[in-house]
Amino acid sequence: MSLQSLQIEIEKTRSSAITDLQNITSEKIDFFKNKYLSRKGEIALLFEKLKILSVNDKKLAGKFLNELKTEVTSQFDSKLLELNDSSKQEEKLFDYSLPGRISSKGSLHPITQTMMEIKNIFNRMGFSSEYGPEIEDDFHNFSALNFPPDHPARDLQDTFFINQNILLRTHTTSVQIRAMETGKPPIRIIMPGRVFRNEAISARSYCLFHQVDGVYIDKKVSMADLKGTLINFAKQFYGNSIKFKIRPSYFPFTEPSLEMDISCFLCKSKGCRICKQSGWLEILGAGMIHPNVYKNVGLNKNEWNGFAFGMGIERITILRMGIDDIRMLYENDIRMLKQLA
Ligand code: DAH
Repeated sequence: MSLQSLQIEIEKTRSSAITDLQNITSEKIDFFKNKYLSRKGEIALLFEKLKILSVNDKKLAGKFLNELKTEVTSQFDSKLLELNDSSKQEEKLFDYSLPGRISSKGSLHPITQTMMEIKNIFNRMGFSSEYGPEIEDDFHNFSALNFPPDHPARDLQDTFFINQNILLRTHTTSVQIRAMETGKPPIRIIMPGRVFRNEAISARSYCLFHQVDGVYIDKKVSMADLKGTLINFAKQFYGNSIKFKIRPSYFPFTEPSLEMDISCFLCKSKGCRICKQSGWLEILGAGMIHPNVYKNVGLNKNEWNGFAFGMGIERITILRMGIDDIRMLYENDIRMLKQLA
């Protein structure tokens, strides 16, 4: 290679670098740097070619090359400054009269809202909240609650078993056993939580739902106390004008057992699809704790007595929201959630 041909290459590089700089944009900065100024860039490659020149030519060409490098670098630097400045200018041009962006507001899930409301009502009556594990053993979920060994709830059809002894709790009544095992009465607690049942999924039932159980154990607790507590709750939760009805029922862990209905607040007791034309809605199960349950947790049934109750959260939540499909609560459809905010 001769000095002359290297000079031609230097000039070519100079003019293409200058043209590129004239058209440079912020996105092309890295590309430009790589093409001309990096260790493998065009200018560096020209420096490589100095090696093959004679000593005198090398000096001269070196000088030209250094000039080229300085020129391209300084022009590149001032272009960088210019680009920076113009992006600041754009910032300054922000139009403050533009309408604001509306940010969407979050809200508590309807299940959470119902739970909180129920908790508040019972807290005011002196009940505190307790929680237990969702993965339970047979003892706490069934045996200690006086379920006979052949009870249908113990069937795989109804309960998610993990193995013969371990299962997903089917009701929050299991927490009652834990509380009775560990706490000495008086006990006055509610037990909110998630429960699981192996059910066909439909508009009315889901494999997972929520319950709140309650228990009050002390000396001389009577059925009248239970009735008073439930009526007080129902009036606060559903409104003073509600009518209620207490019917005998059956649960293995209470004796006597009862269920409570309230007058249908959707049709004002006239009869509708939701209350199945009866004018009544079933809202909870309850009863006096069965003597066997005291025995199973090592409490003296002659010393203590108490009541228990339990209710599902989903049904009352959808009734109050005026929707008729329980699955809407779990699908997290943004169109539905937005309406709750
Ligand atoms: N555990 C029952 C259920 O899941 C509800 C229930 C009824 C709970 C009566 C209670 C009770 O504590 O006393 O259907």
